[in-house]
Amino acid sequence: MIRNIQDEIIKIKRERDICILAHSYQAHEIIEVADFTGDSFQLSVMASKAKQKKIIMCGVRFMAETVKILSPEKDVWLANPVAGCPMAEQMDKELITQVRQQLPDYTVVAYINTTADLKTVCDVCVTSSSAVKIIQKIENDNILFIPDRNLGDYVAKQIPDKNFKFLQGGCPIHAAVTAKDVKRARESHPDALLLVHPECIPSVVELADFVGSTSAIMEYAEKSPAREFIIGTEVSIAEHLQYRCPDKRFYALSHNMVCPNMKITTLMDLYNCLNGDGGELIVLPEETIKGARRCIDEMIRLGQ
Ligand code: 13P
Ligand code: SF4
Repeated sequence: MIRNIQDEIIKIKRERDICILAHSYQAHEIIEVADFTGDSFQLSVMASKAKQKKIIMCGVRFMAETVKILSPEKDVWLANPVAGCPMAEQMDKELITQVRQQLPDYTVVAYINTTADLKTVCDVCVTSSSAVKIIQKIENDNILFIPDRNLGDYVAKQIPDKNFKFLQGGCPIHAAVTAKDVKRARESHPDALLLVHPECIPSVVELADFVGSTSAIMEYAEKSPAREFIIGTEVSIAEHLQYRCPDKRFYALSHNMVCPNMKITTLMDLYNCLNGDGGELIVLPEETIKGARRCIDEMIRLGQ
């Protein structure tokens, strides 16, 4: 049944010349029919290079917005319009505009997990993989990092010569994992390496053998000579790695690490969206595209 729907999706996307993007937290059956998979930034760059003029994003809203900002001339759909990221929606433009007035000497650095609207009042975006490199290159030593307090903490520890300020935001899925979960997983799998995402709390990050973005975790596990890994990010990553490296063993750090927002998109949502029946065409005001683009372009410039 799943295979039949997948075959149909592949046929329709070819006939209608539509590019399908899937974030690595999507279910395996969606990943299998996507043209590109990866983290949110990789996906936007791939979308801007894709020859197709129509793009469907299987992921959350800020990712579809980022694709639209980088490719305003393309039609971009979010496969399931309900898929939002709670972290991206924790802070809005009004709040950050007020905070900026209180901290006029600070450069505002926004994690890419923010709305397009919020990016218009920030100075530069970062991803989890590029944050340290980009912030090191910022000429100002005063940094306000939003919204993820945990990622901010991880970055600040690596750049001790800058002054960081944070607001209390973060990913509810990663932030819920504790050092107790690490102890339990290490006891069950004493020979495994622990790979975690920097959205986890500092007391979990401190215990890890490797810390990185979803793509960095996957690359590390694939290249490592080790045979067993405890994966401290959304459970799909352990599942995808198990498919890619059948001779290695992958364990979820916690089975609670399921992002319901990422998992709300189903294969049928994608099928319906391809057929013009469902999904949401992303429409952003020109001013928002321009303002958010400035923030993303700065990330690309400093990230080189
Ligand atoms: P990356 O894929 O950029 O590591 O981000 C993780 C995440 O939580 C995306 O929502
Ligand atoms: Fe947002 Fe966290 Fe889900 Fe990523 S894992 S989409 S940051 S809630």
